[in-house]
Amino acid sequence: MYKEKAEVKYYMDNYYSEKTNFFQNTNPMRLIEEYGSPIYVYNQRVFRKKCREMTSLIEYPNFKVTYSIKANSNLELLKIARKEGMHADAMSPGEIFVLTKAGFEANEIFYISNNVSRKEMSYAVERGIMTSVDSLSQLGMYGQINPGGKVAVRLNPGIGAGHHEKVVTGGKKSKFGINLDKIDEIKKIAKKYNLEIVGINQHIGSLFMKGDAYLTGVQSVLDSARQFENLDFVDFGGGFGVPYKKQEGQAPMELEEFGFKFNDILTRWVDQYGKQIMFRIEPGRYVAAEAGILIGTVNAIKNNYGIKFIGTDIGFNVIKRPVMYESHHDIEIYRKGHMVKSDQGETVTVVGNICESGDIVAKNRFLPVIEEGDLLGVMDAGAYCYSMASNYNNRFRPAEVLIEEGGAVRLIRRRDTFEDLIRNFC
Ligand code: LLP
Repeated sequence: MYKEKAEVKYYMDNYYSEKTNFFQNTNPMRLIEEYGSPIYVYNQRVFRKKCREMTSLIEYPNFKVTYSIKANSNLELLKIARKEGMHADAMSPGEIFVLTKAGFEANEIFYISNNVSRKEMSYAVERGIMTSVDSLSQLGMYGQINPGGKVAVRLNPGIGAGHHEKVVTGGKKSKFGINLDKIDEIKKIAKKYNLEIVGINQHIGSLFMKGDAYLTGVQSVLDSARQFENLDFVDFGGGFGVPYKKQEGQAPMELEEFGFKFNDILTRWVDQYGKQIMFRIEPGRYVAAEAGILIGTVNAIKNNYGIKFIGTDIGFNVIKRPVMYESHHDIEIYRKGHMVKSDQGETVTVVGNICESGDIVAKNRFLPVIEEGDLLGVMDAGAYCYSMASNYNNRFRPAEVLIEEGGAVRLIRRRDTFEDLIRNFC
């Protein structure tokens, strides 16, 4: 095993995958030789560890983590999340379907609907899946579909957080949730259809590194929750961030103190409410992001009017976050044969193979001198990367590979094929 590793020369500065032994007994070259390029590689050990960091966040006994599968819904990862004792939230009938295939029971799924059709809402109701509605109009729709039923409502506490305005889901500019001053109207509609409001949920946004806004949101939603007499649960949403700039030394979120404060707010509230209701959180990114690395290949290098472009096969059909949110992902370089010298760096722009100039993975990034044929590892690519991939330009979505805890490597989703591209034509 050592020999196999020795033939791979790495970018050594802050070499994260080496420090964490991400590739275990295999290495990026071997993976690309076996499965082709590009590929998403997931590490089961890391994924489990992240699940456990969330499930042990607070001491309060009636606490549940619902994994937000929009971050990554590969069936194998979902099965691991379930084994770790997590429930899951779903945003669409498709996500409910996939969760069912992964073994989740109806009572382990929380359907957080947003502007859905009667047909979509019925899909969840018919399966006995707890549903959250996020407008008065959809509460009315729910009442018509399932009079006398139990339902959850999504509140918008007027507070938002997130790494980009596109992912701030609470606050005054967001389409989500029902304003706190509409609680009387919620109750009126509930009464009309004999509905029982058993759950309150919210999600203020995605990717914060400090928990202050989250805890303010927790406090705010709990203040409102008091107005509902018969709650079974309050769900505070996800948003827990991961450090995407590890090569610059960015630290992870401080969970211990956060968990302590969070726990304190909950236990005090429960004492007043008089019922040990269930509290839930919905992390997606935190669980999946660091468990994945995207590996791609450098196919061409050129200099255009002073900009050095590193041309790869990881265009925005494969990884969209940098284009969509100008997100940063650390990049590592893997090379067979001779060492990547980290002291000889230069500023380059790493691009993909899609026919748009905006097809950029990393703009003006200082990296060691890259050569054609090098492999690039895009770090923290386990969340919102494959799940946002597409067939734009009729390119294939990549394969996904899992490094199991014992070191075995397994293909867990094959790459698209030419046939997949024409499958749905009539
Ligand atoms: N719950 C609800 C209702 C959500 O809308 C989301 C994410 C989550 C939970 C999970 O949030 P997380 O823990 O993963 O931050 N594509 C964007 C992120 C969009 C998040 C959408 N909602 C990105 O790549 O950064």
